[in-house]
Amino acid sequence: MTERTLVLIKPDAVARGYVGEILGRIERKGLTISALDLRTAPTDVAATHYAEHEGRPFYPSLLEFITSGPLVAAVLEGPRAIAAFRQLAGGTDPVEKALPGTIRGDFGLEAQHNLVHGSDSVESAEREIGLWFPHLASR
Ligand code: TYD
Ligand code: MG
Repeated sequence: MTERTLVLIKPDAVARGYVGEILGRIERKGLTISALDLRTAPTDVAATHYAEHEGRPFYPSLLEFITSGPLVAAVLEGPRAIAAFRQLAGGTDPVEKALPGTIRGDFGLEAQHNLVHGSDSVESAEREIGLWFPHLASR
């Protein structure tokens, strides 16, 4: 019962040199990295990725941030991969929600600069994998 999830190591984490740390945590958890790519996201891809948040006050600055520099896009696979990665990431706000021991809880201070994205459902994961890795889109 393997599952796929789309992960972004966001521009703040790349700029701060946390790519290896974050990939290490993913590997130690036992998740399989089945796609991995460093790229700078175009605005249209970022807007589609975060379309559910269009109209919210943080949306314009979120798009500006996520396109501001290179990020690492990845597809992870494993049993319950979606929940497993969100457990590694911690809650959205690195101080109010994420616990110590999580990526956001250990390394973040602000909601926007929270280091990582992970898909939140099977439907989101398949949509996001198709967006970031079209050749891996579900049949
Ligand atoms: P959301 O999907 O709610 O969080 P998550 O990344 O945990 O699934 O929000 C998407 C991103 O938008 C979030 O990672 C950081 C940013 N964001 C803010 O900057 N301020 C906010 O108040 C919220 C809710 C999100
Ligand atoms: Mg989300």
